[in-house]
Amino acid sequence: MIASINAPGPGDWTRFAAWLEQAGADALELNIYHVPTRADLSAQQVEQQYLEAVQGVRQATRLPLAVKIGPYFSSLPHFAAELVAAGAEALVLFNRYLEPDVNLEKMCIEPVLVLSTRHELRLPLRWIGVLRDQLSVNLAASSGVQEPEDVVKALAVGADVVMVVGHLLRHGPSALERLLQGVRHWLQEHQMTLEQLRGRLSMSRCGDPALLQRANYMQTVVSYRGH
Ligand SMILES: Cc1cc2nc3c(=O)[nH]c(=O)nc-3n(C[C@H](O)[C@H](O)[C@H](O)COP(=O)(O)O)c2cc1C
Repeated sequence: MIASINAPGPGDWTRFAAWLEQAGADALELNIYHVPTRADLSAQQVEQQYLEAVQGVRQATRLPLAVKIGPYFSSLPHFAAELVAAGAEALVLFNRYLEPDVNLEKMCIEPVLVLSTRHELRLPLRWIGVLRDQLSVNLAASSGVQEPEDVVKALAVGADVVMVVGHLLRHGPSALERLLQGVRHWLQEHQMTLEQLRGRLSMSRCGDPALLQRANYMQTVVSYRGH
């Protein structure tokens, strides 16, 4: 059982982690959901806060430790490596930050939950593909997984684990069995084992690393055919 923590203040991460270890958790996930809004706080200062939280928890418990982050960093690979150096044994890519909407009738900002779409998987696909060969930690894909093919894609770029939330909220727990069956069927049909599939399209193995970078911008735009 993996306990997922989101703590309000710097010292709270360590306190919560110790409590959860005592309560019997098998592993911890630090869900660092932080939207920096202060103009006087630099990227380096924000990243330092993340690293201190990870270091604090690493020292406070011996449990396996995963860190869940959002996608918005100036140099995600460098920061991911720093998280690993601070003690993260797995990274969950990505947290999905909920954007607030504007209610024009009430003239206010309002939170509205919109579940993810399949298209959102593209973000973790790119970054797992990029990080797979550079970091020797477990990588989990989170965002937009709805079909067995989505799970296969995440494994192909190098995910060790694939996470599903919105799809389960829409369809209930039985959707998991359908995903698993679909992945088994895909592997059989393509005569591949899970080990052969995993990481086959990571940045160093996909044949053209540029495709994971700008996704061949010109070719992609020119191929647009409208509706
Ligand atoms: C109703 C709801 C509650 C969530 N609560 C948490 C949470 O407590 N901790 C967390 O790390 N992520 C939370 N998430 C984010 C999900 O874990 C996941 O990262 C995100 O929904 C993207 O995955 P999906 O596309 O499969 O939904 C929540 C998502 C939803 C829709």
